Amino acid sequence: KSVVHGLWKGSLSVGMLSPRLQRAMKDYLNNNKHGVAYRGHRKTQQSGQQVLCELKKGENVRTLDGAEMPFSNLGWQKIVPALPLSQLYGPGFQTCAVVTSAGAMLHSGHGKEIDSHDAVLRFNTAPTKGYERDVGNKTTIRIINSQILANPKHQFNTSSLYKNITLVAWDPAPYTLNLHKWYSNPDYDLFTPYMEYRMHFPAQPFYILHPKYIWQLWDVIQGNNLENIQPNPPSSGFIGILLMMSLCEEVHVYEYIPSLRQTDLCHYHERYYDAACTLGAYHPLLYEKMLIQRMNVGSEDDLKRKGKVTLPGFKNVHC
Ligand code: C5P
Repeated sequence: KSVVHGLWKGSLSVGMLSPRLQRAMKDYLNNNKHGVAYRGHRKTQQSGQQVLCELKKGENVRTLDGAEMPFSNLGWQKIVPALPLSQLYGPGFQTCAVVTSAGAMLHSGHGKEIDSHDAVLRFNTAPTKGYERDVGNKTTIRIINSQILANPKHQFNTSSLYKNITLVAWDPAPYTLNLHKWYSNPDYDLFTPYMEYRMHFPAQPFYILHPKYIWQLWDVIQGNNLENIQPNPPSSGFIGILLMMSLCEEVHVYEYIPSLRQTDLCHYHERYYDAACTLGAYHPLLYEKMLIQRMNVGSEDDLKRKGKVTLPGFKNVHC
């Protein structure tokens, strides 16, 4: 439990992780699959407010607009939604919920509170049916990684999980932001299923995050650490939290920093146990969580009992 305690207090070192997780982190560093070469500064000791300002200064949610090569040549300006995500909801939402898929959501009883928010963000295959008491049943936006689109087992085209909501997909591109390389060699091919889905359901808002946005978030996480973090994109959870901070006045995040219910159960909807889901192997989750903890403006009681972090929307961050 000392790891969770460290997360609550914002004082955690990698040395507190199991040898297996430490090894996994090292392997990803050595592998550096996405060709990361960080050239920025390292500002440790930044306050939560300073981190908020640094994030606000960056680009607010950016999605592919089809105007860049190779997408422009492929006619993507007519394929992507006419309205950018940042304008889709007009002035935006008052309060928003980000519901992680963590096992600790189970038996949380958070359903009613989650549904009382103006917008609810969920991830990947996380269901609501059968889990309403704990996770609610409202979904406004769903962030999906490229595996969801590419792997037939997820039945992306037909499953009701992905209907009547806004979809935001992402895939790791090279750190150099070479879009040609990305298009010809994505982690999982999301481009073909995306185009097909857009043709079938043109009225449904469906975006692909721009790699620049994803790596810019990664840069902020790395820039706030002396240690080298995993050279892989932030988790969907971190991306989703930041996305909602640009669409909402206030963001409530559930079980990203684990509560007292902390468990090795990976997802609330699956019987699979692995501490890496909460603490990270591929994703720099531990560092993401430390950064989010620093920006928390909610109470320590909310954190421990509810697993809830409260963050201001960027509109309410004054630098
Ligand atoms: O596993 P998946 O990426 O679909 O889960 C959605 C997000 O929820 C993750 O990206 C991560 O940020 C968060 N999560 C977590 N702890 C877990 C499982 C998921 O923090 N045990």
